[in-house]
Amino acid sequence: MERIWVSPWLVLWLATVLTCFSNLMGVASALSSGFEENFKVMGSEDHLKTSDDGQVWHLFLDEKAGCGFQTKHRYRFGWFSMKLKLVGGDSAGVVTAYYMCSDLGAGPERDELDLEFLGNRSGQPYTLQTNVYVSGVGGREMRHMLWFDPTQDYHTYSILWNNHQIVFFVDKVPIRVYRNNGKPNNFFPNKKPMYMFSSIWNADDWATRGGIEKTDWKKAPFISSYKKFKADGCRWKQPYPECVSTTTDHWWDQYDAWTLTDNQNMDNSWVGRNLVIYDYCKDHQRYPDTPPECS
Ligand SMILES: *[C@@H]1O[C@H](CO)[C@@H](O)[C@H](O)[C@H]1NC(C)=O
Repeated sequence: MERIWVSPWLVLWLATVLTCFSNLMGVASALSSGFEENFKVMGSEDHLKTSDDGQVWHLFLDEKAGCGFQTKHRYRFGWFSMKLKLVGGDSAGVVTAYYMCSDLGAGPERDELDLEFLGNRSGQPYTLQTNVYVSGVGGREMRHMLWFDPTQDYHTYSILWNNHQIVFFVDKVPIRVYRNNGKPNNFFPNKKPMYMFSSIWNADDWATRGGIEKTDWKKAPFISSYKKFKADGCRWKQPYPECVSTTTDHWWDQYDAWTLTDNQNMDNSWVGRNLVIYDYCKDHQRYPDTPPECS
C-alpha cells in the first residue's frame, strides 16, 4: 500500500503521451461520427477501434503503447457517465482509467477526479481506486472492491459533480461521496472546468499488489471497451460565469442533487461496511493530522 499515492499521471505520460506522441495529430477519419463529435484520440490512433456502428470503442494496450481518448469540450459541474467493460483474464499491472481533469497534461495546478481500475491476476478481483485533486494536490485515495466481475459485462460508472458534492457511482450505487464543507480550508475542486478522459496503460510499478505483480506481455493486447458516453453538464464557454448560474435545466446543480437520497445513503453505507479496502481519511500513519474534509 505504500505507493498508492504515486501520481498515475507520471505513468500516463510515459506510457501514453510519450510513447505515441508521433501519432497524436492524426485523429482517424475512419472513426465514427459518434466518436468524432465528442472525443479526440490521445496517443496511438491504431490502438483504438470502434465497432462498425460506432457505438462501442475498444482501447488496446500492448508493449508498444497504450491509448486514450478525451472529450473535446470542458465542463463545469454535471453528470458524466459511461459504460465500461474491463480487460478480462490476466490483467495484472494494467490500469484502465476514467477521469476528469482541468488540463490536457499533468499540469501542476490541475484539478482532477479519478476512477482507476486496477487489474489483477486471473480470477482475482479488480480494485477500483478513486481520487480527488485540487490545484495539483491529490492524495485523497479510496479503494473499493466491486460486487461483480467488471470484465464480464458492461457496467455504468458515473460522476456527479456540483458545488456541494462529488459522488462516484457504480451503476446506481454511490460508492463514494466527497463533500464541499464550504470552509476556508476546504479541499474541493469547483473552480476549473474539466475534460473527461479515458485511457489504458501499463502501471505495473504500483498497481497490482503494490507493484509486485507485473504485466504479462504474453497476454497482450489488453483491451477495455466503452459505450454510452453521457455528459449532462454545463459545457464551458468563456467567460467564467457561463457555468455558474443554476438554471432549472441544470438538474445537477439543483437542491435535490446536493445530497444523497435516503436510499442512496443506505446503499452508500452498505458499500462503506463491505467494500472499502482503503480510505485515506483513516490512514493516520500517512496523515497524522486528519485532512480537513475528512471530519
Ligand atoms: C488482487 O488480488 C489480491 C489477492 O486476492 C488482492 O489482495 C489485491 O487487493 C487485488 N488487487 C490489486 C489491485 O492488487
